[in-house]
Order: sequence, then C-alpha cells, then structure tokens
Amino acid sequence: MDFATVLDRMRPDLQRVEDRLLAETALEFPLVSEILQALVRAGGKRLRPFLLLLAAKPFRYDIERLVPAAAGIELLHTASLIHDDSIDGASLRRGQPTLNVLFEPSVVIMVGDYMFARSAMLAASTMNPRVLAVFARCLGSICDGQLREIFAARRADVSFDDYQRRIYGKTASLFAASAEIGAILADATDEQIELLGEFGGAIGMAFQIVDDILDLQGNAAEIGKPAGQDLRQGTITLPTMLFLQNGKATSEQRDFVLEVIQHGTPDESAIATAVALIRESGAIDEAFEYARRYVEEAKLLLSQLPPSDGRDMLAALADHALVRRT
Ligand code: IPE
Ligand code: IPE
Ligand code: MG
Ligand code: MG
Repeated sequence: MDFATVLDRMRPDLQRVEDRLLAETALEFPLVSEILQALVRAGGKRLRPFLLLLAAKPFRYDIERLVPAAAGIELLHTASLIHDDSIDGASLRRGQPTLNVLFEPSVVIMVGDYMFARSAMLAASTMNPRVLAVFARCLGSICDGQLREIFAARRADVSFDDYQRRIYGKTASLFAASAEIGAILADATDEQIELLGEFGGAIGMAFQIVDDILDLQGNAAEIGKPAGQDLRQGTITLPTMLFLQNGKATSEQRDFVLEVIQHGTPDESAIATAVALIRESGAIDEAFEYARRYVEEAKLLLSQLPPSDGRDMLAALADHALVRRT
C-alpha cells in the first residue's frame, strides 16, 4: 500500500484530530489564541497523531477513544517546537514567523507551557493511567534529549552514541510514545504494545536523521524553517559527524567546519561554505543509509504481527519517513 492511499483512507479520522486541535487551542487570551491557532492552521505533517491512529489499526480500532490522545500528542509536539524555537532563537516555523518574533521570551515560554498543559489534559482525558505514564515518561525524554543537545553544542568530541541518545530523546521517544499509546487504546497485548513502541522509536530515529539531512540540503522556503541551523548552533548531527570522521575531507576542509562548530560565526557565507563542504563529501548519502536501516528495522518488527491492512499501513508510514522533503 502506498502512502497516498493510506492518507486517503485515513482522511476523515485525521480531520477529527484536526478539529480537536483547533478546539483545544482556542484560549481566553485573544492574541495568544490567534497565534496558536495560526500555528495549528499552518499545518505540519501531523505524523505523530497519524502514527498513533495507525498503531491502533491492527487491533481494536475505535476512533472515539483515539482522537483526544492523538490531539494531545500533536500538542505535545507543538509545545516542544515552541520551546525549541525559543532555545534556538529561530524566527521561522511551518513557513510562519515564530512566537519569538512577536513576543518577549517570558511570553513564549509560558505559551509553550500552556501547550504542554493542554496536551497533558488531553492525555488525562483518556482516563487511562498507562497512557499517562507513557506520556509523562516521553515528556521527560524530550527534555533529556534537548538538554543533551544544549550541552553538546560547540563541542567536537561528540560520539555516535551521544548522537543516538540525543535524537532518541528529543524526537524518537515521541514517535515511540505515539505508537505505544495507539496500541494501548486499542487493547493490544503487552507484547504488542512494546513492539509498536519499538517500531515508533525506529521510525523516529530515521525521521530525525532525515531532518538533520534536510537541514543541510534544503532551503528555508522548502522546509519552512531556517536551513543550516544545526551548524549555526554548533550542533554536530550525523552527516557532519560522518564528514569529520571518515577521511572524506582534506584537513583544511575539516578545520574550517570545526572552526564554525566550535567558535561559531556571524558570517553567513562561512555557514554556507561549511554546508557545501559537507554536502559535497558524500556524508549525506552515508547518513541516509543509517536512516534507511532504521526503517528496515521498523518494518522487520512489523513482520511479527499477523498480516492485516493495519500492518501494511504502518509499513507505508515507515517508508514515508525516508521520502519527505519538508
Ligand atoms: C519537527 O518535526 C521537529 C523534529 C523532530 C525534527 P516535524 O518535521 O514533524 O514538524 P511539523 O509538525 O511537520 O511542522
Ligand atoms: C527538535 O529537533 C526536536 C524537538 C522539537 C524536541 P530540531 O531542532 O532538529 O527540530 P527543527 O529542525 O528545529 O524542526
Ligand atoms: Mg530546532
Ligand atoms: Mg532540525
């Protein structure tokens, strides 16, 4: 089954999540409410709620039970983006100006917290303690991943293991939680819930590696957020790590990129040069191979489930993690 077919079949259910997102972001503060709703309307791929719904498909799928949790997961993601953009000082998200551009930092942080609260309220409305436990653990993992990224900034001594832990925390843990929660709310067995959690985690790892590639390969108009941001922040992602490690560059090229990472630069042409060096080194193709392997791992896990439409839909979502361009 291809991704477009899955999307088509799931459209009415995704629309219900969309309606719920707009309802949950209608707050009492008109200006904040407007901004939040604009953020929701600006779209985003909705991959996490989509994964949550699909993870329920092979089991007892009940859209009524899933909608609040799916909306809660997307709002948790949105809240983490608000804080991420505040941490990064980013001014563009989903092609729109971020809250940073419009408000002082105290407001941005509080609006992010508000979003976290609303997402937690949605999770709580499932009245399922297991869902809440997964939700709370995931929020902790996101903070752990973001702290790892902050502490790794401007450091050259980042290992592959550091990178994996960091992206699991900041990104893959939310994909894992989405899939686990979908399975929990569809009365899957403990083993099946665990399997779906691992499946979601593997897709999430692939997803973040592709994001790190797009940061080097895309431009702001395409990806709807600033490109080259990881180098600008001094964050070593997988393509950069591979560029630095494997004799893909001359020592001058390596030193140039290391200088940008370790000391930063206000010079945008230096960032562009560093990006070009990494792009031309073959490191991007190599990083993509890692993402592809995570997707293979995810699909292998699915083979433990009996054949079903739901299983095919999950496989299509896994493949989609590799072809996205935004
Ligand atoms: C952005 O996530 C943050 C990452 C984990 C890379 P998405 O790329 O899913 O963002 P939206 O929701 O589609 O805007
Ligand atoms: C952000 O990762 C992950 C979270 C929001 C927790 P990135 O920093 O790579 O996300 P983008 O590139 O800003 O979307
Ligand atoms: Mg960011
Ligand atoms: Mg990124």
